[in-house]
This record gives sequence, C-alpha cells and structure tokens, in this order.
Amino acid sequence: MADVATVSVEPIEFVDLGAQRRRIGARMDEAIRRVVDHGRFILGPEVAKLEHQLAEFCGAKHVLSCANGTDALGLALMALGAGPGQAILVPSFTFAATAEVVAWFGATPIFVDVLADTFNMAPGSFEAGIATARRLGLTPAGVIPVDLFGLPADYHEILAVAEANRMWVLCDAAQSFGAVYKGSKVGTIGDLTTTSFFPAKPLGCYGDGGAVFLDDDEMMAVLKSLRVHGQGSDKYDNVRVGMNARLDTMQAAVLLEKLAIFADEIAARDRIAGRYDALLGDVVSVPEVPEGLTSVWAQYTIRLPAGCDRDALAARLKSAGIPTAVYYPKPLHIQTAYRDYPRAGNGLPVSEQLSAEVLSLPMHPYLDEATQEHIAAALRAALRR
Ligand SMILES: Cc1ncc(COP(=O)(O)O)c(C=O)c1O
Repeated sequence: MADVATVSVEPIEFVDLGAQRRRIGARMDEAIRRVVDHGRFILGPEVAKLEHQLAEFCGAKHVLSCANGTDALGLALMALGAGPGQAILVPSFTFAATAEVVAWFGATPIFVDVLADTFNMAPGSFEAGIATARRLGLTPAGVIPVDLFGLPADYHEILAVAEANRMWVLCDAAQSFGAVYKGSKVGTIGDLTTTSFFPAKPLGCYGDGGAVFLDDDEMMAVLKSLRVHGQGSDKYDNVRVGMNARLDTMQAAVLLEKLAIFADEIAARDRIAGRYDALLGDVVSVPEVPEGLTSVWAQYTIRLPAGCDRDALAARLKSAGIPTAVYYPKPLHIQTAYRDYPRAGNGLPVSEQLSAEVLSLPMHPYLDEATQEHIAAALRAALRR
C-alpha cells in the first residue's frame, strides 16, 4: 500500500466533475451551443428526447422531467392528492426535501426509523408509524421510502405493508436513479418514482433538474398539466392549481450527453466501491448491498468504530488533503423545522446513532486506484491516532 507521507497526488475532489468534463466536454459544449442556436429554451426538443431516453433507460412507461428533485416530489404529491388529515410516512435519516414536500400540502409527515446496515427505511418502524398515524386520527395515505446513498430501499417488505394498508408508495430515488432492485430498475417500483439531477448526483446536470417516473396514463396527463401552472388543453384556461416546474432545455441537453456514458459510469462507481470495501473493510463498517440489489453509490458512506471522534478524524483527513462529508449529521425528527411532527413507535434510535457515526468518502467514477489507496492509508493512519 502507498505510503501516506511520500505519495503526492493531485488535489482530491469529493465529486470530480472536472474529470467527467475532460471526457465529454467537447460534446457537451456542442450540445449546449445547439440549444443556444435553436433558441427553444423552454420545453425545447431536447426535453422530450431526454424524457424518452430516460424511459428507455429504466423501463418506465412515462417520464416527466421537471425543475429539481424537490419539485418532482411536490408534483407527485399534488397528483396523489396529498392534503390535511393525511399522514405520509418518511424516513428520518434523509435529506430534508423528503419531508418538506409533505408539509407543503398540509399533510403530516410521520418519521420512521431506518435499518443500521442499509441506512434505508425499516419496515418494522414503518408499521409502527402507521399505528402512530391512526392513534392521532390521521389517515395513513402513503409512504415515501428513500433509496439512501444510491441503494434501493427494502421494497419487498415496504410494498407489502403499504398494500395491506391501502397506501400509495412514492419512491424518492433522488440518489439512486440507475440502480436495480431484484431485477426491477429504479423508476419502475412503487406507484411513482422521483429523482434529482442536482450536479453532484450520479446523473447530474449543470444546475437544477429532476424527473418523475410512472406507468399510469391519467396521472401522467395530470402531472404534465401541473408542471405548467395546471394548464388545460387551452393554455389560458388553467384547469387546476399547479406550479412552474419545467426542466430547462439547456439542462436536458446536458443530461442527454451524460446519459450516453451513464451505464459506464455506474460500472466504474461499483468498481470503486468494491475497492474501498477491500481497502477498508477490516477497520470500519463498510456499506452493505443486499443480495439482488445494486447501488449507484451517490455516496460511499462508512460507519466509524464506536468512540471514534469523527470531527477530529475528518480534520486529520482534511489536513492530508482528503475531503469528507457527513450525510446527515442530524436526522430530520430532531431538526428545528420538523421536531414537532410525530415519530413512529418509541423513538428513532438507529437514525440518531447513524447520524453520529457516518462519514462519506470521495466518490465519483474517475477516482483512480492510487488515490483510493492514498485515502485508505490516510484513514487507517487517522484511526490509529
Ligand atoms: C433524498 C433526496 N430527496 C430529494 C432531494 C431533492 O432534490 P433537489 O435538490 O434536486 O431538489 C434530494 C437532493 O439532494 C435528496 O437527496
């Protein structure tokens, strides 16, 4: 293994978008120029082409591109009729948007715990959350499982519990587009799926972007209308209250170029995750991928040993030139805006424990072997101190 003290490497990026740009920059510039030249900046031809290619990529019948992953969730909830009196169950160990959109519509988010090994929604806690909803006189209307860090949630269990309770399932795949759950590609699981094309996501654009995936024809027609202020067939007769949530043509052009290399990048991410597993599996708890699932590794997130001072460790890594991040330092149920919403069962101990132990390492498809060895050696050294 490389000696930390003597190896000199380029500055290490947490997500190296520059490396991707070196690969496809010329094609990307041409694609952007084509949009500038044709001038159809709103719902131009690249938008429909992207929606078509995304549908082909994952096998969903319909894809509606939109402004970002939060609006994708919001559009889906509007189409599902989320509103006051409804409880919508969400994991606590996730990005704020998953719960935020529920509150937008006056529905009540109920926070559910996650599993320690996959970081995804715990089916047992989901069931406890349904009981909490009923106890509070709320109708448990739906659930938003999150595919955290790129790994699909435990859909077999979650879909069964949802079906038994007549709840819809909206999959928050902001981090997992491109992953597979037991033969089903993300985008084809549950009633609807949403994703984000935020620049650092596995499939990211050069700004904000998102999409909704679904099979239902009628709901697709509603979503299309909602995306443009609730317009009807006569565009100045709005038939419902909607929003302005279109994806810019420029971002669609960017995504088309990135989608062309996405399968190759997913394979690279998986190789890189496997290398981290081999380099670090004996000193930290490395992420688990259950049988039959794949991850797109939006993050490579380890759990540090009990008693390890994470801040001090991250500082040591930073001084060795290695960026790290903590996703997420505070579960939603204890954050200021969300702490008064109900929780499943007797608390969410796993979410709280994970938020104290997790650390995400640099992860992108262009991370070379020498750099990974350098990161692993520095982490081992930092753990020994
Ligand atoms: C789990 C999850 N849901 C929703 C979102 C929201 O996506 P966006 O930032 O595109 O609005 C994100 C983005 O980070 C996310 O990680």
